[in-house]
Amino acid sequence: MHPTRDQAPGGPPAGASHDPALVIEGLVCGYGGGDVLHDVSLSVPAGAITCVVGPNGAGKSTLLATISGLLRPKRGTIKLHGESLAGKSPRQILDMGLVHVQQNHSLFRDMTVRENVELGGYILRDHALLLRRRGYVEEMFPQVAQWAGQKAGSLSGGQQRLVEFARCLMLDPSLVLLDEPSMGLSPKVLRTVFDAARLMNAQGKTILLVEQNARAGLRLSAHGIVLENGRVRLTGSGREILEHPEIGALYLGGAVTRASGPAPGDGGGAPGAAH
Ligand SMILES: Nc1ncnc2c1ncn2[C@@H]1O[C@H](COP(=O)(O)OP(=O)(O)O)[C@@H](O)[C@H]1O
Ligand SMILES: [Mg+2]
Repeated sequence: MHPTRDQAPGGPPAGASHDPALVIEGLVCGYGGGDVLHDVSLSVPAGAITCVVGPNGAGKSTLLATISGLLRPKRGTIKLHGESLAGKSPRQILDMGLVHVQQNHSLFRDMTVRENVELGGYILRDHALLLRRRGYVEEMFPQVAQWAGQKAGSLSGGQQRLVEFARCLMLDPSLVLLDEPSMGLSPKVLRTVFDAARLMNAQGKTILLVEQNARAGLRLSAHGIVLENGRVRLTGSGREILEHPEIGALYLGGAVTRASGPAPGDGGGAPGAAH
């Protein structure tokens, strides 16, 4: 669909396609003070899940905000399916098929679940199309259809995540950015949310996932990127990063020397491990 010769960074991609959905080169970005991202280059293979891990403050959310146009880069290029995002507004980037589910919950709590989902399609002019899309996402996430008439604010954190996922699909995006969807969730609920991410991927969405819950995030993902102090420290397959001894020890809750006592959140993540 988008022929380019670029390979995924580090190792053979395990995803459905070898073409990058997103290519970032030499990205420098900050908030007016010092730079937060320093010369970040990476590529996100189309059709797969790619997980960005790294300690708190590494710049993961800043990276996603820059990709979705909320922040303007100082230097560097971002291309979505070969097309530059330079100078584009968040709305234009949305129109190009890139959606961003932010780290903090973003539903309108006093509106119903269905109203929230429909808001995801607010730029659709065609009402019939909006209804078709709503039918599609409610079929994909039957629980969301069940909660349709409830106030979004009455749902649990994990349930709200599913509604946010459903909402972000209303524009039928090609690339979905997910910022810490597991934040604050129990291991059991985390699994439901990750299953939903996997389902979106199975429906053809490329996913760029940011996870503090590094072990669980990398297990879910074909590709991994370790971000450290605003720099790409390592890229590879999710498995390569999981098995990397140094990265394991630093960010994955002590993968190499597992101390006695309760194992640090295997599958459920290791809270605090990355601080
Ligand atoms: N709105 C902001 N204004 C100024 N600095 C910010 C803002 N958001 C984040 N930062 C700073 O940018 C750095 C990276 O933050 P962030 O991208 O949120 O990291 P992460 O998502 O990896 O935890 C941190 O030092 C943080 O304090
Ligand atoms: Mg963050």
